[in-house]
Formats: sequence, structure tokens, C-alpha cells
Amino acid sequence: MKAITILGSTGSIGTSALDVIRSQRNIFRVAGLAAGRNMRALAEQIREFEPECVSVLDDVVATQLRSLLAAADYPPDRTEILSGEAGTCAVAALPAAEVVISSMVGFSGLKPTYHAIQAGKDIALANKEVLVAGGEFITRAARQCNVRLVPVDSEHNAIFQCLRGESTSEIKTIWLTASGGPFRTTPLDQLVTVSPEEALRHPTWRMGPKITIDSATMMNKGLEIIEAHWLFGLPADAIQVVVHPQSTIHSMVEFQDGSFIAQLGVTDMRLPIHYALHYPARAPFNGRRMDPFTLGALEFHAPDFEKFPCLTLAYQALRQGGSLPTILNAANEVAVAAFLRADIRFTDIPRIIGDTLAALAGQEARTLEDILHLNERSRQSAYRIVRDLK
Ligand SMILES: NC(=O)c1ccc[n+]([C@@H]2O[C@H](COP(=O)([O-])OP(=O)(O)OC[C@H]3O[C@@H](n4cnc5c(N)ncnc54)[C@H](OP(=O)(O)O)[C@@H]3O)[C@@H](O)[C@H]2O)c1
Repeated sequence: MKAITILGSTGSIGTSALDVIRSQRNIFRVAGLAAGRNMRALAEQIREFEPECVSVLDDVVATQLRSLLAAADYPPDRTEILSGEAGTCAVAALPAAEVVISSMVGFSGLKPTYHAIQAGKDIALANKEVLVAGGEFITRAARQCNVRLVPVDSEHNAIFQCLRGESTSEIKTIWLTASGGPFRTTPLDQLVTVSPEEALRHPTWRMGPKITIDSATMMNKGLEIIEAHWLFGLPADAIQVVVHPQSTIHSMVEFQDGSFIAQLGVTDMRLPIHYALHYPARAPFNGRRMDPFTLGALEFHAPDFEKFPCLTLAYQALRQGGSLPTILNAANEVAVAAFLRADIRFTDIPRIIGDTLAALAGQEARTLEDILHLNERSRQSAYRIVRDLK
């Protein structure tokens, strides 16, 4: 049995990962789970999968969880309940687990992912912000600890598959496909008034709120450009974005000899999760499959950099390097949360990111402490800009 720990088990990726494990209970078992505040969902997961240890956001929700489990007659000694960041890091490093699925949202996943790497766990990586904010630090730690980083993000999982048996030196360009989000055809001058509800209506994927807003601004693709840089060791100029509204091709690689290799499949995150958990094996998948006869026409367009300035900001941060991606990520997290609270307009998001980058450029952050510190400073700077805009 392969023991799996899931960081962010109550989220969109976390619940899809549990679906994959549920459908293959003879192969996988759950060692540990970490979640934030959704204690009803977590209590159900604990009852079903009986992990040895879980962690939750803080002591208050841990008390709620204990009451829910007691009310359901769950044996109190079966699952240890921890809380806070230290608890999440302990769950990430549980000795029993072979693979840790890193699927918390945002920067808060960085430290637990690092602890999992240090404990020698292979990482199925969904949380792209971990690589955006700490790419050099995390990939170096993975190399030093000899652990695999298998991408779960569908685009990077696709590229990872396309590169099996290939040499990185023979790549010309990585083509990240993008659905274009809900505002692909919305005129630029109408973006200023779009609401969080409209931005949360993604045309092809069902995901958590933060990544869904990132898809609407196309910052999601910007974050993915930086993620691809760290996963595949390519410069910004070798990473292109192509808008493909059907989301059938999950990404493709163009080689030096002019050949393209693409990976296709249904828009179901269980597919890349299944791949990452079985890697390097290709095991039978029980879920929905792609039917080529029903695909119809596939479209491809160039991205609109004027309408989606977040893409330009991400390319700039990657090209200029240093710690700009850490600042970009922090400012984006603050701006997206502010937009979801309806404190700012949709078009303020790139403005806040651009102004935060300008305010903090030139900072270096190589160690974990430096990265944590710069993340906090960038967030404070972005909060001030949000406050002035309100
Ligand atoms: N969803 C997708 O299809 C998809 C595709 C590709 C990549 N990704 C990436 O995967 C990551 C997760 O995305 P998602 O859509 O699954 O997000 P989500 O639905 O919002 O789930 C986030 C998870 O993180 C947990 N969490 C948040 N803060 C936490 C904290 N401080 N401590 C412990 N747990 C915490 C949440 O717990 P509670 O809900 O209990 O508070 C939840 O389980 C993101 O980085 C995203 O970019 C997602």
C-alpha cells in the first residue's frame, strides 16, 4: 500500500485526490490530512479514511473538529489532531507517507511543502504559489533531498508527460495552453465593472476561488510561466502562452526539430492526480475518458497582453528574476482576496501588483527566513495600496 498525505484535503484538488484514492483503496491509503477551516468536510474525510494524524488551521477549529468526531462516535485515539503551521508541517513530514500532495492554496503551502521535502517525501505538486514564491529554494531542496517534484497542475503535468524520455536541451519552446477564462471575449472597457460572481464563472474548470480569479485575470497563466521555469529549467523566452478555449490540449512541447508533442484529456483534475500518484507507472483510470469523436474543432489564439496585464507582469518578474516573483505572488494574493471581498475593482488587481513590485524591487531572498520575511513585507505594502484604493 502506498501511503499518501494530502495538504489541503478539503479543497478542490484535495477532494479530487481523495476521489482517486477512494477508487483505488487496494493501492493507496491516507496517512495524514491537513485542512484550514472546513471541519464538517474534514470530519467526514477522517471517518472515511482514518488517517493517523491531521492538522487544522488553529486551536479553535481543532476543538470544533474534536466535537464533530465525538458526536459521530469516532474513537478519540484513532487520529491525532494537531493545529497551526507547526501541526501542518508535522503532518507533511509523517514518517508513514511516501507521497505528499501539496494542494493548500497560496503561500501558506510553502513551509509545509519544504518540511515534506526535507523528510524525503516525493511531492505531487498542485500548489503553484510554492514554486512562484520560492522556486529556487524549493527546487534546490528537492535536489538535495533527492525527492521528486511531480507536477499536478494540468499544464505542467502535460509537459512532464510530453518530456518522458526527452532531453531538456532539445526543447525549443513550451506552449502552455490557457482557456482564456470567463472574460476571453469581454471587451477591455467592460472589465472595470465585472463582479466577483462573474469572475468566479470559469468556462471549463471547477476550482477553488483563488485560482478561479487568477484564471479570470490570466495571472494563473503568469504564475504557471514561473512554475514552468522552475520545473523544467527553461528561460522566459522559451515559455509561450497560447489561448485554447476548449482546454482539450493541456499543453505542448515544441522540439528543436520542429516536432510538437501535446498531451490531451478530459478537463478533470483526477487525471493528473492519478498520474502523479502512480508515477512512473501508467495505471488504469476509472474516471471519464476523452472521446476523440466528440471533440470537434480546436481553436488557438495569441493571448491579449493589453487586456490581461497580469501576464506581462509575470513575464517581467521572471525575466528580471531575483525575488520579484515572491513579491508578485504576495501582491496577487492580497489583491485577489480584496477583489473577492468586493473592496477593489477587477482592473485594480494588476495595478496593485505592479505598484507593489515597484515599491519592493531589489530585495534578495534566498533562505526560507528571507522568503517568509519578503512575503510579509510585500503583503503589507499591497495592503496599503488596497486601503488607498478603497
Ligand atoms: N483546483 C484546481 O483544479 C487546480 C488546478 C491546478 C492547480 N491548482 C492549485 O492547487 C492549489 C489548491 O487549489 P484549490 O482550487 O484546490 O484550492 P481550494 O479549493 O481553495 O482549497 C484550498 C485548500 O487549502 C486549505 N488551506 C487553506 N489555507 C490553509 C492553511 N493555512 N492551513 C491548512 N490548510 C489550508 C483549505 O482548507 P479549508 O477549505 O478547510 O479552509 C483547502 O483544503 C492552488 O495552489 C491552485 O493554484 C488547483
